[in-house]
Amino acid sequence: MLEARGLSKFYGSVLAVRDISFCLQPGQVLGYLGPNGSGKSTTVKMLTGLLEPSDGQVIYDGQDIRKNLMAYRKRLGYVPEEANLYPYLTGQEYLDMVATLRAMPSPRKNKTIRSLLQLFSLWPHRHVTMGSYSKGMRQRILLIAALMDNPDVLILDEPLSGLDVTSVLVIKNLIQTLSAHGKSVFYCSHILEVVEKVCSHLIILRKGQVIAQGTTTEVREHIGKSSLEGVFLHLVEERDVVQMAHDIVSVLAAV
Ligand SMILES: Nc1ncnc2c1ncn2[C@@H]1O[C@H](COP(=O)(O)OP(=O)(O)O)[C@@H](O)[C@H]1O
Ligand SMILES: [Mg+2]
Repeated sequence: MLEARGLSKFYGSVLAVRDISFCLQPGQVLGYLGPNGSGKSTTVKMLTGLLEPSDGQVIYDGQDIRKNLMAYRKRLGYVPEEANLYPYLTGQEYLDMVATLRAMPSPRKNKTIRSLLQLFSLWPHRHVTMGSYSKGMRQRILLIAALMDNPDVLILDEPLSGLDVTSVLVIKNLIQTLSAHGKSVFYCSHILEVVEKVCSHLIILRKGQVIAQGTTTEVREHIGKSSLEGVFLHLVEERDVVQMAHDIVSVLAAV
């Protein structure tokens, strides 16, 4: 089980995330929702051990992750928001490198990489350098890298950005299947579309603070609106988006 206890993060004097706490049990899919700049990636970096919290702890299986970061990372798959992929490496070379860093045994490594490249339609492109890959292809490579060591916890930071419709459907189904196999998924997004369908639990974030937390049903009932989209707009957006759209069109029409 993964647990966040009172996580806060300051960048200098700016408070990016304040007092976040949750438990993520095996088989649960936790949606972490909020507009851009609300603190999602900062939380993720603390959960993966990349960023030290200003306050609070991340606990995995009863132990602070900092006590044995290597062992914790071995159980973790992480798809970062921004891909710093090596442009001169081919997809295959990159995945081989990640597998080596994760100390995956060779026969399993080769078989898994081959199967995942085929499943994600990247097999024909495996010997092409990643600098020429599309955003969607890079995103799929990152997903393969996160999955190939069969992690118990999968952390996805905006995993659908830049993906084609088919890949989006594949990932939606993949999250559900992983959850059915007892994996925990922490799913960050500023878009609601997928979240309502795949997440068992929700945290809604605004300016670094939790404004709603619970099962997806609880959050919906708490707000008293049937559609999660309604909930999201209701909680997070300060501006009336419908009015805003009209205003934008009026400006265009006036020119
Ligand atoms: N390395 C950093 N240094 C200073 N401020 C940062 C840094 N990273 C993020 N921030 C700020 O912290 C806030 C939360 O950012 P972030 O966690 O990236 O949000 P999100 O992922 O929800 O878009 C934003 O105001 C952002 O500008
Ligand atoms: Mg982010």
